[in-house]
Amino acid sequence: MIENGYEERYVSTQQTSADSDIEVSLRPRVMSEYIGQEKVKENLEIYIQAAKNRGESLDHVLLYGPPGLGKTTLAGIVANEMNVNLRVTSGPAIEKQGDLAALLTNLNEGDVLFIDEIHRLNRSVEEILYPAMEDNALDIIIGKGPSARSIRLDLPKFTLVGATTRAGQLSAPLRDRFGVILRLELYTPEELAQIVKRSAGILGIEIDKYGALEIASRSRGTPRIANRLLKRARDFAQVMAEGVITEDSANLALDRMEIDHLGLDSIDRILLETMIKNYNGGPVGLDTIAAAIGEEAVTIEDVYEPYLMQIGFLSRTPRGRMVTALAYEHLGLSPSEKKNSSNNQQTLF
Ligand code: ADE
Repeated sequence: MIENGYEERYVSTQQTSADSDIEVSLRPRVMSEYIGQEKVKENLEIYIQAAKNRGESLDHVLLYGPPGLGKTTLAGIVANEMNVNLRVTSGPAIEKQGDLAALLTNLNEGDVLFIDEIHRLNRSVEEILYPAMEDNALDIIIGKGPSARSIRLDLPKFTLVGATTRAGQLSAPLRDRFGVILRLELYTPEELAQIVKRSAGILGIEIDKYGALEIASRSRGTPRIANRLLKRARDFAQVMAEGVITEDSANLALDRMEIDHLGLDSIDRILLETMIKNYNGGPVGLDTIAAAIGEEAVTIEDVYEPYLMQIGFLSRTPRGRMVTALAYEHLGLSPSEKKNSSNNQQTLF
């Protein structure tokens, strides 16, 4: 069982209240300040330019990918570049049809409505969204039983920016109504180092390029984590070094936080070691792993796995998850520690 819940991890991709304070001040406001996600940025810039040239609102945009990569930030940039307002809400926050109707009728022409975790919208709310997205109309049912009738209200033109960590969980009718679908990728250490330097500049933190790269390479491809580690590294630098985040002081801070050179923390290691020790490194089903380490399957899938797969430590196969040789090596375990009962050895090594 994992004792410290993943919300408490330094390397959690979930936003905490401490993050949200600094994230707002660090958030780039225009596309030219946004680092990384080059493909997404290039295409989005063209769509924005084209819509502006035609004097139209931007088509609806779906952003998907692991948490903490800047989906809300991008929605803000879209609104800013289109010179319209941004309204922010989330799937779980919209409980009833009336909640969404209130949001939609309060929009101004061209506004961006950002719905985070859009895969968590309930079905009845989703149904209100279809005519709104397609025809800028709100269908409301008045009355009950045989005398019930539907009236249609016009809505202002708006752009829905939906964000999800799980594009596969979106219903097909909803997914089909997005004209633009963009996948955000984990950032490279070089991109993250640039983000760390930019954030340090805004927060008035002294850091050199080696310090920035050290934080970046342990931040699991995720700006939210990089910015959080930057703040903690500053504490260590101020108390235990000269106040400047250098490679040495960053290393000291990150080692104290038990985040290794690749950004793995104790929970990642427990996950991999459990798979190795209990299941010979796999293949093992997601639900079995979830039960073994006491985490929810979706959390493992959305939060732990993307990074472990990105660094080539884990693979998803039709028969289940498998730990790779690279991960064995990183953990200082040898693949021969696999029990001979495994009939999958030849697949792995
Ligand atoms: N802060 C968080 N994400 C960022 C990004 N992609 N570019 C610049 N600053 C950021």
